[in-house]
Amino acid sequence: MSDDGVNTSRRRFLIGATSVVGGVGAIGAAVPFVASWNPSAKAKAAGAPVKASIGKLEPGQRMTVAWRGKPVWVIRRTKEMLDNIATLTDELRDPDSAAPQQPEYVKGVYRSSRSEYAILVGICTHLGCSPQFVPEVKPQEFDANWVGGFYCPCHGSRFDLAGRVFKGVPAPKNLEVPPHKYIDDSTVIIGVDEENA
Ligand code: FES
Repeated sequence: MSDDGVNTSRRRFLIGATSVVGGVGAIGAAVPFVASWNPSAKAKAAGAPVKASIGKLEPGQRMTVAWRGKPVWVIRRTKEMLDNIATLTDELRDPDSAAPQQPEYVKGVYRSSRSEYAILVGICTHLGCSPQFVPEVKPQEFDANWVGGFYCPCHGSRFDLAGRVFKGVPAPKNLEVPPHKYIDDSTVIIGVDEENA
């Protein structure tokens, strides 16, 4: 249940806000991340695989689960998003994912075994900030030709919706794709390799 970061965060925020009186500001701010933890968070922090329920993720939406203490994003990409990803090759530092930032089974343009979904560790490969999800296709202050992706506010690194880094930014590598395996159309396990599962 609590793996479903999409639908539980609001409810959990309300519970958190009403059951703790005083000094709740920090708790409220932390909820979007905390909501993705389930009661066995301690085991997960040690490295256990994490199950994510992705069945309710709408096209264009992102959810976050925690794996090994890191935020892992699952983005359900629309056809437009996929089409736009394919236009970016010349602007990217490692468009074919040559560097070992992903399991072998997701190499390539979309960095995914099911192109509809991107699964990415949400930590900038520069100095570890968490990039912002900016899916809208419209000119941005940081990129006049923006077609959707991730923007790191710390030093301005940009990544596309496959987590591929743009040229000319401080981040040296694409975002990491964690090992993962789909169990069915609505469930993915983070931390288990497809070939070894
Ligand atoms: S940490 Fe992201 S650009 Fe520096």
